[in-house]
Amino acid sequence: MNKIGIVGAGNVGATSAQRIAERELAREVVLLDVAEGIPQGKGLDMAESAPVERFDTRLIGTNDPSALAGCNLVVITAGIARKPGMSRDDLQATNADIVGTVSEGVRDVAPQAIVVVVSNPLDVMTYVALQKTGFPPHRVVGMAGILDSARFRFFIAEALDVSVEDVTAFVLGGHGDSMVPLPRYSSVAGIPLTELLDSATIDAIVQRTRDGGAEIVGHLKTGSAYYAPASAVAEMAAAIVRDKKRILPCAAYLTGQYGIHDLFVGVPIKLGAGGVESIIEIGLTPEETTALQKSADEVRENIAKLEL
Ligand code: 2OP
Repeated sequence: MNKIGIVGAGNVGATSAQRIAERELAREVVLLDVAEGIPQGKGLDMAESAPVERFDTRLIGTNDPSALAGCNLVVITAGIARKPGMSRDDLQATNADIVGTVSEGVRDVAPQAIVVVVSNPLDVMTYVALQKTGFPPHRVVGMAGILDSARFRFFIAEALDVSVEDVTAFVLGGHGDSMVPLPRYSSVAGIPLTELLDSATIDAIVQRTRDGGAEIVGHLKTGSAYYAPASAVAEMAAAIVRDKKRILPCAAYLTGQYGIHDLFVGVPIKLGAGGVESIIEIGLTPEETTALQKSADEVRENIAKLEL
């Protein structure tokens, strides 16, 4: 019986709860937040949509962390979001405190859970969650690669005027300005992207993907993206609770893979009921390797600034 906790009832948390409930990925979804009334109100509002949307997932909104007891999956979205002009890294000090406290709570009340981290800066916050829960690394994983790849896929489909369903694409590296979209591993119905678009168009799409989060912040001004991030969360939840063993780009703890040690960085993983069931190493060109290392170096530098 799946019980999923979502910590943080802001836009990302609430929309993730909605997507998870509508897909009936759990018997019960607990929406937890420190703000009084917000998780209760949003949870009840979503629950009242159930007869129309036809889902039987129960939604509980609460301020009580002990309600996470029994969760086999906890999604951490808590923290502040970007405003225009801010990088994800500007959120680090504030969100490290919040994610640290939340992670200790998860450790205490849901010690068997798999933890999916969504708070930014993503790769650093996933590291904080690993440290503060003390969970084995295969049970702590960060959401970013699916979101970044979804943006990449959307822009490719738009450029070619084809269905998004036929577009697969990969983005590796940290969830920051130095993320590494990989056109060489991207295809449309199996046809390599490099045969369908010229390099100038691909370069422009790669850059727009890197700037994808900032583009949304620029429009919204008071916050950051949440529809596509929540879709990515639901995709990960489905892979875990249905033991799908999907191959997805996620932030996983590397212990030497790709020459990277003791860091969370976005790489292809097998995601199933065991969490990160394996990390897949794909061949990279020297340029791609350099870009991935640069991205990992930025994550490492930010981790060094943490006071855990
Ligand atoms: C994004 O890329 C918020 O980091 C998130 O939109």
